[in-house]
Amino acid sequence: MVMKIDEPDKLIAANKGGTIIFGQNNDCVIAASDPAAFEPFAIKKKRILGDNEIAVISAEGWEIFKEAKTEEEDFFSAKSDIGDFLFFMEKEIFEQPKIFSNTIAGRFIFEQGLPRLDGIEDFARELRNVKNFHFVGCGTAYNACRYAALLFNRFGIAARAWIASEFCYSHPVFDPTDAFVFISQSGETADTIEVINEIKIKGNICLGIVNVPGSRIWRETDAGIGIRAGKEKGVASTKAFTSQLATIVMLAVFLARQRKMTIDTGQRIINELKKIPDKIEIILRDADRIKELAKKYACFRNYYFLGRYFHSVTADEGSLKLKEISYVHAEGYPLGEMKHGPLALIEPDFCSVVIIPDDPIFKKGIVNIHEIKGRNGTVLAITDKKKGISPADDTINIPTTIDYLSPILTTIPTQLFAYYMALEFGCNPDKPRNLAKTVTVN
Ligand code: G6P
Repeated sequence: MVMKIDEPDKLIAANKGGTIIFGQNNDCVIAASDPAAFEPFAIKKKRILGDNEIAVISAEGWEIFKEAKTEEEDFFSAKSDIGDFLFFMEKEIFEQPKIFSNTIAGRFIFEQGLPRLDGIEDFARELRNVKNFHFVGCGTAYNACRYAALLFNRFGIAARAWIASEFCYSHPVFDPTDAFVFISQSGETADTIEVINEIKIKGNICLGIVNVPGSRIWRETDAGIGIRAGKEKGVASTKAFTSQLATIVMLAVFLARQRKMTIDTGQRIINELKKIPDKIEIILRDADRIKELAKKYACFRNYYFLGRYFHSVTADEGSLKLKEISYVHAEGYPLGEMKHGPLALIEPDFCSVVIIPDDPIFKKGIVNIHEIKGRNGTVLAITDKKKGISPADDTINIPTTIDYLSPILTTIPTQLFAYYMALEFGCNPDKPRNLAKTVTVN
């Protein structure tokens, strides 16, 4: 609540997810968060201040104003100036610290080690009993789905990821009590909407993790969480991806706290999420070096992007970025799978970008790098290991975080690498050939 010096007889109240109740009797107006406060007074009239409402209160009563702007109006009215950047993709990569902060802002109840996700609040009790989650998306959003499935499993919650365009035709087996989570930047992707329509027939809970407020997936899911990444103009998704990962972490912690996760684990994750924007900033400060590496590596026309566990996802996302905007052949592969076929292609002019943070499977990854180097392959490593990766030809260093949050960081150098590679080849990264930002056909 706010008072203005020049209007001391008025009080301004705004509500964002809390409880504010006004009560009026013959002499005054009382504002309280608990109706018990009204008991000593002969209250004649009451009004609960709704979410996003603003009220001006005086001794005579109150006047309610709807919030000046909705999330949807905010989104569409925001300017998308390119500023000093060459391309929107560059701008969107560099604004990730700010955007990530925006995604998580106001979304934690720290004392409880709990994310506060207003959009799914009404479903909280139903979600408590869900045993299986299905994540559905396309392209980059599908990679976010895969991250979600791994993270949910890590927290002891069964989950799997589906490519939307495959779902309806692959005889999916699921239970009526399973919940579906649809991830989409645009909220308009036809393949994803097709699955929503199918699931609505079946009657399962449908949640959305969407960037564009008011979009079709935003509207047609039962409830959802906005990722608040702002307009994304580059066809290749960058800031929306990291905001999707942040939102997935919050959802996973929310559900895990309903189950077995302890307060202190929840608090540790919240603390670490809050540090991520600064850590992204540190990686972005290394952009000139990554630009130099792109110059050096522009001679390669074939790439593997490799990683284990969570980083097989960021490897796939890195390869998708590179092929989308620079038209260089790139494949993502789980690093440990190399020996089962892909190693056959390794030769000096085949480059492997290996994402290998210092986690419990680090040593296995090093063995795999030796296997590539032993076949005279070229290796560019991305790691948080302080000393670098000795058998690699070059190393990009990133800050350390909790192992399951590190995909948020390891994805940043792959975005920068793809972007600078596109520039090396004279491609326009904002408008890659043959691709559309929003795909509204099946
Ligand atoms: C298109 C875009 C991709 C995007 C995918 C899914 O293919 O080029 O960048 O990841 O659609 O879009 P969505 O809006 O559903 O996240």
